[in-house]
Amino acid sequence: MKAVLFDLDGIITDTAGYHFLAWKTLAEKLGIEIDKEFNEQLKGVSRTDSLELILKKGQLKNEFTLAEKEALAASKNEEYKQMIEQMSSADILPGIESLLVDLKNDHRLLGLASASQNGPVILKKLGLYDLFDTIVNPAELSAGKPDPEIFQKAAEQLGCSVSECVGIEDAAAGVESINRANIVSIAVGDKEVLSAADKVVIATNELTADLIKRIWTECHE
Ligand code: G6P
Ligand code: MG
Repeated sequence: MKAVLFDLDGIITDTAGYHFLAWKTLAEKLGIEIDKEFNEQLKGVSRTDSLELILKKGQLKNEFTLAEKEALAASKNEEYKQMIEQMSSADILPGIESLLVDLKNDHRLLGLASASQNGPVILKKLGLYDLFDTIVNPAELSAGKPDPEIFQKAAEQLGCSVSECVGIEDAAAGVESINRANIVSIAVGDKEVLSAADKVVIATNELTADLIKRIWTECHE
């Protein structure tokens, strides 16, 4: 195992709640109700695709021009950016900082495979930016999760083959993306929602360098 490829939201830090609140504000302005259950579909999904899912839910899919949709997505992002303004290392999910340090000390490469265009800013606020060897720019992808492109790209940017990597995710769309890239997948969260993963743990503090290495080894036996 040469590299570990991380999702951001829900794995490194818990921004899912902020994304949800910012989308909820926008949806309410459009007369659309969204709840936590619907929000599961938005996890791991790009800003543009999330807006499409919300408009579809409100049966407003064909009511806006491309420019109007861009303005709606930009207003959600402005609200989201205000919410993440105060983030600091206190917002790193349990066990993640020591995991990243252990993996680095073990000479593993670290990649960020997040659909979020705010990824680099958030890593800097958390004080984790320098630990990452590469960050995929989601704006350069032709397809978002569940397409495998983002994880394939992360491996490629690190100079690794997919068989040398493990991907870590909290969203069903993300696990599908890792699996379709032929990368070993470890998921954090609900065992039923994430059953497609090679291994599911309940919380981030269960992720250790030893566990990740063991799962990778088991999958390659
Ligand atoms: C992550 C989150 C999604 C979010 C997406 C885009 O995948 O799980 O909820 O919509 O990133 O984030 P951005 O910060 O670019 O709007
Ligand atoms: Mg996530």
